[in-house]
Amino acid sequence: MTNQDIINTTVEFVKTELQNAEGGHDWFHIERVWKNARTIAQSEPVNLLIVELGALLHDIADSKFNSGDETIGSKKARLFLKSLSVDQDTVDHVENIIANISFKGGNFEPNFFSMELAVVQDADRLDAMGAIGIARAFNYGGYKGRELYNPSIKPLEGMTKEQYKNSAAPTINHFYEKLLVLKDRMNTETGRRMAQQRHLFMEQYLEQFFKEWDGN
Ligand code: ADP
Ligand code: NI
Repeated sequence: MTNQDIINTTVEFVKTELQNAEGGHDWFHIERVWKNARTIAQSEPVNLLIVELGALLHDIADSKFNSGDETIGSKKARLFLKSLSVDQDTVDHVENIIANISFKGGNFEPNFFSMELAVVQDADRLDAMGAIGIARAFNYGGYKGRELYNPSIKPLEGMTKEQYKNSAAPTINHFYEKLLVLKDRMNTETGRRMAQQRHLFMEQYLEQFFKEWDGN
């Protein structure tokens, strides 16, 4: 199989697997992350096949939607890539990207790093920001039956991984707990530049939100 055949087959696999996914974690999320990743990869010394496979497979089975099992995604990806006879180093690397990409509150030590992971992580983080990020957050909140905002529930800073995972707070809190901290967590120069503009847009959005909340 050529690399292009591997990518094409992976696209079809991911589309099928994510058929019933929640709107913020569906095929179109993957497609946007894939595009972001290719843009960022242009300025980084990376193996493009690994970046593309990492982007395409990064949400193949999210622990949030699989009873908290955090290994299910990387296992599924491994079985799939092995079925295409992708070489072992590539399979291992893609597995490591999937296992280590997630934000999960951001307050723990990662146990793997590569430039390919850095690129895919930036690409995924960008899709949590800006206009799309806002849409995804409220869609996820709705899916979970959360309040839009509740002035009596304050955002928590520096949450542990457990607190972050178990949070049932209103969706506006998620901006302060995750979305607004992402711009300072970008790994690459291109990612940082793209994040800047999306960050500003979210700040403007929140300003308007609270203005309207107060009847102005
Ligand atoms: P991670 O596990 O890396 O934090 P998630 O898959 O939890 O990534 O988050 C992906 C996207 O899902 C977020 O950017 C956001 O759009 C949405 N999301 C996750 N948790 C929440 C939440 N508590 N409230 C609103 N949106 C959320
Ligand atoms: Ni994602």
